[in-house]
Formats: sequence, C-alpha cells, structure tokens
Amino acid sequence: MAAFKIAVLEGDGIGPEIMAEAVKLLKVVAERSGLELDLGYGAFGASAYFSHGRAFPDETKRLCDEAQAILKGPIGLSHEESQKIPVDEQPERGALLPLRRRYNTFANFRPVYLPQELAHFSPLKSAVIGSGIDFIIIRELVGGLYFGAKESGINAQGKRYVTESLEYDEDQISRIAHVAFDTAMGRKKVLHNIHKSNVLKSSVLWNEIIAEVGANYPEVEVRHILVDAAATYLCLNPGQFDVMVMENMFGDILSDQGGGILGSLGLMPSACVGPEKAYYEPSHGSAPDIAGQNIANPYSMIGSVAMMLEMSLHLPEEGSRLWQAMRRVFGRGYCTPDLSQETDVKMISTSDFGDLVVEELAAAD
Ligand code: IPM
Ligand code: MN
Repeated sequence: MAAFKIAVLEGDGIGPEIMAEAVKLLKVVAERSGLELDLGYGAFGASAYFSHGRAFPDETKRLCDEAQAILKGPIGLSHEESQKIPVDEQPERGALLPLRRRYNTFANFRPVYLPQELAHFSPLKSAVIGSGIDFIIIRELVGGLYFGAKESGINAQGKRYVTESLEYDEDQISRIAHVAFDTAMGRKKVLHNIHKSNVLKSSVLWNEIIAEVGANYPEVEVRHILVDAAATYLCLNPGQFDVMVMENMFGDILSDQGGGILGSLGLMPSACVGPEKAYYEPSHGSAPDIAGQNIANPYSMIGSVAMMLEMSLHLPEEGSRLWQAMRRVFGRGYCTPDLSQETDVKMISTSDFGDLVVEELAAAD
C-alpha cells in the first residue's frame, strides 16, 4: 500500500511543541495499524515570513498540493510582533486564509465535548452541565465577511472609511447546509440553525436555503436561534445543543465560546474539509506568551490528529482510541496549566501529556 502523505505545518508560538506530541501519537497509531506515513514538514505562518519572506511559501504550497491531508499548528504573533510584518503577509491574512481558499475547505467541524468525568474543567456549574457537554459547531469557512469584497480609503467628507461585505451565494449555503443535515442525521437529528435574520439580509437567504435543504431531511428537527441568543444559551443550557450550523464569523466567535465553556481553548480541535482535501488544526491561536516553555496543552492538536484519522484516513476506531486515551489521562487527575489554577492537581507538561497518552494507548491494547 502506498504511504499516506501528510503535510505538517508546525506554525508559530506553541505550534512546534504541540505538533511534536501530535506527530508522536500519529506515529504510534500508524505503527499499530500498519499504516505507512510520508510526513513532509513545511514553513507556514509568521515564522515562514521571517525565514522565507512569505507566510505561505511556494514550496509549502507544493507540499500541501501533493499531500492527502494537512496537519496544521496554530499561527500568529503577539499584536506588537505582528506589526513587524506587512499587513498582507501577517499570518492570518497571508497564510491561513489563503490555505482555506486554496483547498476550498468550506466545512469546519468544531466538536465541543467534555464528558461528565472532566466536567470540573468547565467554569459552568455542575447543575448547568448536567451529564457533560457534547455538541458540534459546523462553521462555514470560506465565505462571509472573511472573504467578501473589502475597500478602504478617504470618503467624500475626507474621513477614513472601510467597507467589508458579507457575501454568500445559494450554492455556498446549500453545501454547508447539506453537511450540517448529514451530521445531524448521524447524531440526534436536531439541528440548531444560528442566524441574525432580524438584521442581516445574508441571514434571510441563509434561512431560506436551510429550509430548502431541510426539505430533503424530514427526520431532522430544525431549531432557529438568533446568534446573540445562542451565545447566552451556550452558557445557560449547553445541553440543548447537538449540531449547530452557522456562517463563518458567527462560527469563529461561538466556537471560541465553546472553548470557554469547556474551560480552555486547548480542548478545541477542528477539521476543515473541502471537496478534495481536508486540513486539521486546533481552533486556538499560537499563545506566544507561553511558547517554548513546554506547558501548552496539546489536546487540541492531538485531537486534530484523531479527527484526521476518522475523516481522512477512514480509521474511526483508531481515532476513537486516541480520544479515549487522552481523556483517560485527564481522568487520572493530570492536567495542563490552562485547565486549572489549583495547586493540588497533578500538573504536567506538554511532552508529559503526550507520553501519558502513549502509555494509555499501549495499556488499551
Ligand atoms: C480560527 C482562528 C482564525 C479565524 C484566525 C487565526 C484567522 O481564530 O480558526 O478560529 O478567525 O478563523
Ligand atoms: Mn477563531
């Protein structure tokens, strides 16, 4: 069998440290399942700008073009450091958005999951959490404000101005709606449609298409919630959600809130899926303030490997073993500094976490 080609983009800040753990686990899983891997590393993000003069260098583009899946670490710098890079080469605009556009990764899956035994990580009261948190945000990833027309300059009154447009056409909405309904069919058959149709015309079209696509899925119950109200319900009653679908910017904001109710963005992996290729990344940033200290939580990066095993390598059992192994490590009372301020917990480093997951995987055999 030919080796499975993966482009590995370590990114900035804590990226290389958490990627090292993710790759360690990926190799353990590959070994166990007889999978041959061909890993190619590429420069990407602010570090690539400094080493190659481009945030998404041509050789990295080629590496990604040839890969069957892409594993990507977080990118970005502190606000001050970012100012040293020209606006269009800053890693979000110069690398990440071009990566999403290049592979048209319109479907972003962001699971928000905390089993009951880890519920103590959440800032929410146990009465609110009930039996844990378990829903998935499906975020449209290549449309809306992020990719709409932008213009800035001086207006007729001599004032600096900017406009950015929130653009969607029916096909863009329809394809993400199908993904959301299909996901709902595989879960509880309840889909929360998040919108702002009381103000935005884009949401009016969005809702129309949701209704049209929904007609093909009579078993799925659709519940419509305004995005601002959804933000409140995520705190007051997250248990009501199972699958949520929304446009790009709403998904950016609510998925960070998802990390907040879990207790850390370090618990938020994600998959970004396009027609031909998917890439996998944590939902969080590169945390430059703690980079290089071996204290970052690698769960989101290893979880992204688990999602890659499930979605690109079609090894759902291996993915699920990896999830379970990570949760058992936390279940044994270990935690990384993002998850607790308490002193009596068993605090572990980034690499300790990876090693303990390796141990748990071996013990499960
Ligand atoms: C995310 C990130 C990105 C986004 C940034 C880094 C451009 O916050 O993946 O959620 O806004 O999409
Ligand atoms: Mn975000």
